[in-house]
Amino acid sequence: MEFASDHRSVLQEVLKWRRDTRHFKPDPVESDVLAALQAAMALAPSVGNARPWRVLQIETPSLRAAVRANFEAANREAASLYEGEQAEAYGALKLAGLDMAPVQLAIFTEIAPVEGHGLGRQTMPETLRQSTAMAIHTLWLTARTHNLGLGMVSILDPDAMTRLLDVPQSWEFSAYLCLGYPEFHDDTPLLHRAGWQENTPTDWQRR
Ligand SMILES: Cc1cc2nc3c(=O)[nH]c(=O)nc-3n(C[C@H](O)[C@H](O)[C@H](O)COP(=O)(O)O)c2cc1C
Repeated sequence: MEFASDHRSVLQEVLKWRRDTRHFKPDPVESDVLAALQAAMALAPSVGNARPWRVLQIETPSLRAAVRANFEAANREAASLYEGEQAEAYGALKLAGLDMAPVQLAIFTEIAPVEGHGLGRQTMPETLRQSTAMAIHTLWLTARTHNLGLGMVSILDPDAMTRLLDVPQSWEFSAYLCLGYPEFHDDTPLLHRAGWQENTPTDWQRR
């Protein structure tokens, strides 16, 4: 497959309009779209082709409520680390769409996978977590091409998530994802708009 400028422009638009979404419409996500997302995630690269990501689709209301309680406690604790104007600014940020997101995924990393037979991770065991991050990004971009938004939530106690979801000991909590149709689209990160952290270009230094 050879790509042309049309493909590059589309990719550029997807990258530009991929944002972390925290505001969702309640509309459900169609099952064929969810299947397409699942298939796309499986195309992500991974160390030794180990594909260490494990995905739980969280639907049970009591589990969702427990995740929200976990987030609220972790967010209160995080907020307490800031002072003055910064504390006020932090308090005004919406940092998860757990209240509305119709699809919610708990993502784990299998840290002792048989798959891949250890290839590529003997010297850098963190490559398993990196592989999961790449699968999440693959899902994120694909979701956007279906006009969906995805929000990544890390303000959670990972041990509590592991206990709550009763996963195997070798599964390490990676992230909680909120997915659904966004209330609005934006080409600028919310944290940039809110004045918390602006987007600046990253240099490539020559050595
Ligand atoms: C590893 C990771 C964890 C994140 N955790 C959170 C989170 O807990 N809450 C939140 O609102 N956004 C979270 N985000 C989203 C970032 O805030 C967001 O990606 C960043 O501000 C840039 O905005 P953009 O994704 O819209 O470009 C996370 C993003 C990544 C990559």
